[in-house]
Amino acid sequence: MIREAKIFDIPRINELGELLNPNFRKVFNINEMLNDGYSKVIVYEKDDKVVGFISGTILYDTCDILDIVVDPQYRRKNIASNLISYLISEGGENLKLMTLEVATKNIPAINLYEKFGFEVVYTRKNYYKDDDAYLMARKSE
Ligand SMILES: CC(C)(COP(=O)(O)OP(=O)(O)OC[C@H]1O[C@@H](n2cnc3c(N)ncnc32)[C@H](O)[C@@H]1OP(=O)(O)O)[C@@H](O)C(=O)NCCC(=O)NCCS
Repeated sequence: MIREAKIFDIPRINELGELLNPNFRKVFNINEMLNDGYSKVIVYEKDDKVVGFISGTILYDTCDILDIVVDPQYRRKNIASNLISYLISEGGENLKLMTLEVATKNIPAINLYEKFGFEVVYTRKNYYKDDDAYLMARKSE
């Protein structure tokens, strides 16, 4: 099941977020994101637990994906794809542009985004401690 995150999901979201970024809970205040009116945090539940989430902001016609993480035991089951589709549908017809940053070495994530029509538009040098980042974008007609 896919649904909007609730306050009781925050510890699990932080746990999953830390798989991607050890400083996750210092950098992202999920509690604030649930209430600021422009952030979206969506969770995927399976076997009675949250096994993945996506977070992003939707401002005017632009959605910026901030994080997407799936529990390692549940990968390659289309969960991330479902989360991205859900976020796209949240943007509705107004949504014209989606953007995100991804480490240039993160092949699984790059493949995932390319599947959704994202293209590399810029390389941000030294964006991460040990890697550059691709800025990827997806335009809708
Ligand atoms: C990237 C990530 C979110 C993908 O989640 P997932 O639920 O396994 O993805 P899906 O099952 O929806 O896969 C969709 C597509 O992504 C690509 N993909 C996913 N995992 C891949 C892998 N290990 N190797 C290569 N391509 C991969 C494939 O194109 C796949 O389509 P296919 O199964 O038809 O080949 C997951 O690997 C993850 O949590 N990684 C750690 C966190 C991370 O790096 N997040 C991105 C930060 S920018």
